[in-house]
Amino acid sequence: MRILRWALAVILVGVIVAASVPFWPLKSAYSETAAQAALGSDQAALIERGKYLSAAADCVACHQSPDGTPYAGGLPIDTPFGVIYGTNITPDKSAGIGDYNSAEFFHAVVDGLRKDNARLYPAMPFPSYHAMRQQDSDAIYAYLMTQTPVARKNPDPELKFPFNQRWLLAYWGLANSKISLPEAAADEDQNGAYLTEVLGHCQECHTPRNLMGGLKIGQAYEGGQLGHGIQAPSLTPEGLAERGWTAADLRGFLSTGISPQGTMTLEMFPVLKHSTQYLTDDDIAGIQTYLMGDQPLPPVPVKPHPAIDAEAHAKGKDTYVAVCAGCHGIDGEGKAHIAPPMDTNTSLRLSDPGNLLTVLIEGVPEQRYPNGEVMQDMPGFSDVLSRQELLDLANYMRSEWGGRSDTLDLESLDKFLN
Ligand code: HEC
Ligand code: HEC
Ligand code: HEC
Repeated sequence: MRILRWALAVILVGVIVAASVPFWPLKSAYSETAAQAALGSDQAALIERGKYLSAAADCVACHQSPDGTPYAGGLPIDTPFGVIYGTNITPDKSAGIGDYNSAEFFHAVVDGLRKDNARLYPAMPFPSYHAMRQQDSDAIYAYLMTQTPVARKNPDPELKFPFNQRWLLAYWGLANSKISLPEAAADEDQNGAYLTEVLGHCQECHTPRNLMGGLKIGQAYEGGQLGHGIQAPSLTPEGLAERGWTAADLRGFLSTGISPQGTMTLEMFPVLKHSTQYLTDDDIAGIQTYLMGDQPLPPVPVKPHPAIDAEAHAKGKDTYVAVCAGCHGIDGEGKAHIAPPMDTNTSLRLSDPGNLLTVLIEGVPEQRYPNGEVMQDMPGFSDVLSRQELLDLANYMRSEWGGRSDTLDLESLDKFLN
């Protein structure tokens, strides 16, 4: 009897604790004294620093409006659970964050807690920003408060039950990890770990996610699926070496968007556009060294794989020469200022064909690169080439320049042809 009563009591306490989870504040420590010192310091320098940090953290990528007004909100973000909109973070008092103080702002960014203590959806990458330094959050706050207020109201997220229940996010927060940095990395002023993990939030796309949409931090940088068959490739030292990356190429790619391994396309292009192109050479070097290590692994040269089906291979080559070579070069060598090389392109080396097929089918819109570099737009080819032609072409390029021994079938292509 006694044991039964005890068991009931334990269960009851468990239920009460579990039910109280949504009311736990779970706020990181914020020092008002430090904030006063930071926010009271030389304003021009503080705002300049906030501007740089907000570029390094790519805030505008999600918080711009669909017409491109910085920080005005309303950009739809597709998630497996529905559409969530980036919010208005201009200093407008009612539509934006004009009535947030620096502490409330800090808790929104690092803890995912709104001013009214409601939980933010992790489409806002607070699990990465969790390790952001208070002085950096304060500088970003000071910078954002100098922006022009925009009275654009936030659209409501379009989520189905139960995902539209914000309070459930309290349990999400308990079940999913946030990024934490080793003590040593957290102390230094600017460094690769902090830029990559926290500000750059590179894991948010390049790390696989669990069924709840949380980062699988144990598989950091092993590559993420972003929906619609698009992949953010692995950024582990081994993964980068296998696809031919050198330290110099990776630095060039992050600062200019162009490298022998390819240009930035798909969801990676906005990262260049709003963020990495503005980073100093030291910070780019920090990210590269953090990802590759002090002694990068030697890049693996690609060996063409002998054609498995000689006839299909020959047909794929014919299509390439007729349709693609004018821009990408007859031997896939690329043409400066026109189109990137194919013979060293990573999208042909990836086992997952998603990025290659997406580009073949949809093309690439005109993209402006730093230093005034503009390449042509690349048209999509799903109306020009038959399914079989597209397939032979993809297989030809993957075996010739990607060194791949596997062949794609029509079924894998059809998933991308809607
Ligand atoms: C990957 C996209 C993404 C990035 C990058 C991002 N945010 Fe957000 N942010 C969101 C989304 C989406 C929401 C709204 C989430 C919700 O409705 O629960 C949000 C909400 C917020 C909020 C709460 C405001 C409100 O009105 O509810 C603040 C403050 C904020 N973000 C600031 C920032 C800052 C500062 C940065 C850069 C350091 C940043 N965000 C980067 C997507 C992003
Ligand atoms: C009119 C010129 C043009 C033609 C024709 C063309 N491309 Fe492209 N292609 C480009 C440009 C320019 C880019 C880079 C766009 C950017 O990143 O801004 C590109 C990008 C690519 C990429 C992505 C490269 C990367 O680094 O991510 C692949 C793959 C590709 N093209 C394959 C092909 C194939 C296969 C064909 C023939 C069916 C073809 N292209 C025809 C101009 C062209
Ligand atoms: C919003 C999602 C997103 C974020 C955030 C993101 N990436 Fe990417 N990344 C992608 C996608 C998608 C690709 C594949 C398209 C391409 O190669 O341009 C990619 C490609 C890359 C590649 C080329 C890989 C290869 O072998 O072709 C590198 C290197 C890279 N990202 C580094 C980074 C770094 C460093 C960060 C953080 C500063 C970062 N990415 C943040 C989505 C993202």
